Amino acid sequence: MQNHTLRDGTSIPPLGLGTYPLNNVDAEVAVSEAIARGYRLIDTAVNYENEVGVARGVLRSGTPRDEIFVQSKLPGRDHGYDAALRSLEGSLSRMGFDYLDAYLIHWPNPSQGLYVDTWRALIKAQEEGLVKTIGVSNFLPEHIDRLIEETGVTPAINQIELHPYSQKQDWAAYNLDHAILTQCWSPLGRKTDLLKDAALETIAAETGKTIAQVILRWEVQKNLVPLPKTSNALRMEENLAVFDWELTDDQVARIDALEAGVGRGFDPNTHEEM
Ligand code: A2P
Repeated sequence: MQNHTLRDGTSIPPLGLGTYPLNNVDAEVAVSEAIARGYRLIDTAVNYENEVGVARGVLRSGTPRDEIFVQSKLPGRDHGYDAALRSLEGSLSRMGFDYLDAYLIHWPNPSQGLYVDTWRALIKAQEEGLVKTIGVSNFLPEHIDRLIEETGVTPAINQIELHPYSQKQDWAAYNLDHAILTQCWSPLGRKTDLLKDAALETIAAETGKTIAQVILRWEVQKNLVPLPKTSNALRMEENLAVFDWELTDDQVARIDALEAGVGRGFDPNTHEEM
């Protein structure tokens, strides 16, 4: 399991634990169990309302804070320069941390017209050492173009919905062209039938792996960083065991062919998450 290096030099693990929609109590248990099983990247957000549980889980794991990459996301209601800095302070104080490893703008919410100001606040937070690296989530290329044009600073991460039924090839290619790491939310295609797909079942039989492992390996092999959520300890182990084997080019091509335009499919230009 080799870390990626982000465009600003920050090192980030190649797979992490998703925590939506765990509550604080369940997140604490899941995070400490995941860390005990080797996870080093944990994803949360203000809007998941489980930052406290995530932080307690990190503490409970007994693993030093600086060995865990913890990332959170700024909610829509806190867009704007001052509001964003206050929101980050709130996350840090809730979590009892003096820094976050990554901080992402959760959604662009273009109708508010504040995501560039918000981005300036994240740039400031990184300069002040409150966050090691900064990025975005659900930002379309046009939104990122604006951030770059108006601030000169390119996000290090863009977290988007991505799995074999919704591959976002152009979007992921834009990220790659700009040296932006793509993280995948819903990497296992939650709320679709992806985990029952017949073609994936065949590849699982060929490789002696589970369907979940085949999906996660496909993502890892494309240098995407999946954030699968599970509160089941055996599945945590299963989902992390995708770094000592490979899919063949033919198997990757068969998974590429599963694109179906199926997923949550929120349009970042109209989806408002406050
Ligand atoms: P559970 O938490 O009960 O394990 P996504 O990360 O795409 O949002 O998907 C998460 C969903 O997939 C959760 O419902 C989770 O359920 C389930 N899941 C996670 N890992 C596995 C796995 N290895 N096999 C089957 N289902 C899984």
